[in-house]
Amino acid sequence: MNKRVMSAMNTQINREFYAAYLYLAISAYYETLSLKGFASWMREQAKEEQTHAMKLYDFVFSRGGTVTLLPIEQPEANFNSVLEAFEAALDHEKKVTAWIHEIATIIEEEKDYASRTLIQWFVDEQIEEEETVSDICERLKMIGEHKPALFMFDKELATRQTEPVQE
Ligand code: FEO
Repeated sequence: MNKRVMSAMNTQINREFYAAYLYLAISAYYETLSLKGFASWMREQAKEEQTHAMKLYDFVFSRGGTVTLLPIEQPEANFNSVLEAFEAALDHEKKVTAWIHEIATIIEEEKDYASRTLIQWFVDEQIEEEETVSDICERLKMIGEHKPALFMFDKELATRQTEPVQE
């Protein structure tokens, strides 16, 4: 396997696990507010991030590469509002998008055609991830301090289930 691509993918495995850790920290914050739907949504998101990490993990092995697991940083855990915690998720998704694009650039530079399909899956996935999280942030801005609307939204978010990752 191309060494530069392998190294970039190993770094991304760590970032996806960090995302899972961050979303679990946000879920724990929502638990403290008794917002079970928000907590459950973030917990599902944490699971999805683990599937992203494992998709890269499996790919590195399928190409005969070596997986190197790096230390996972402690995530932010103190948030001042429901919106602020969701905005932390949106900020992170934007960073992930930029990192995925960097990896796509490395793949192009190295002419690693075998990795193109996988990275394109992540490029497409990031469009969806950013859109979903951004929409929730916008709805939270509209809800503002209106508690009944917030509790209705909490119920709606409780219905989310992890979507199976497409191959
Ligand atoms: Fe795996 Fe939400 O980026």
